[in-house]
Amino acid sequence: MKQLAVFVSGNGSNLQAIIDAIESGRLQGVRIAVVVCNHKSAYGLERAVKHGIPTIYHPWQPYAHAGLTREDYDRDLVAKLQAYPLDLIVLAGWMRIFSMAFLSQYRAVLNIHPALPGTFPGTHAIQDAWEAFGRGDIQHTGVMVHWAPDEAVDAGPVVRSAIVPIYPADTLEELTERVHGVEHDLYVRAIAEVLEVPLLDGAPREGSKDGVTA
Ligand code: GAR
Repeated sequence: MKQLAVFVSGNGSNLQAIIDAIESGRLQGVRIAVVVCNHKSAYGLERAVKHGIPTIYHPWQPYAHAGLTREDYDRDLVAKLQAYPLDLIVLAGWMRIFSMAFLSQYRAVLNIHPALPGTFPGTHAIQDAWEAFGRGDIQHTGVMVHWAPDEAVDAGPVVRSAIVPIYPADTLEELTERVHGVEHDLYVRAIAEVLEVPLLDGAPREGSKDGVTA
């Protein structure tokens, strides 16, 4: 059984997609050993509790107030994770950049970003793409799952990416919903691929209307 740690900072819909894939038997040979969260009010934390998954709450504020560094924060998080033998770290809306104090200890760190490789890094990628489409700068956007080997923001060797269409009448909310739908399928597929575990059929097919694997 492969063991995951899933890191969330907010809503946790990607975490939920992974939980659902495991609980339904679609994603096999995998369990979530722990969910890590840096915000107490994050719904992702509640989702983990609801599904009986152990959690680590590790906020940045006490470190900032004490004048401590990102490296201090990261080292303490590594220490807390020692209790869990992990095969893969899955960043699912984790809105912090790890220092090498963390990344040198964990070589298998995956991230999902709601944009195509090399486009719109940071926290507002869907809105940035929607606005770029409005200006005529892009014809579509996408989603990518990539390895996070270093401190680069939303960059690293790409595991999977998928194109997401944008339509002229799209509101930002409609595009956001479409992007999230593609993310939820793509992340589960990417996890199965990198861990080399079975993923059962019956799931949305690649090349479906709302997500074309690039
Ligand atoms: C997702 O769209 C994820 O790709 C994005 O945050 C959202 C989290 O949603 N991550 C980034 O923008 C990373 N730069 P979720 O909490 O509902 O899974």
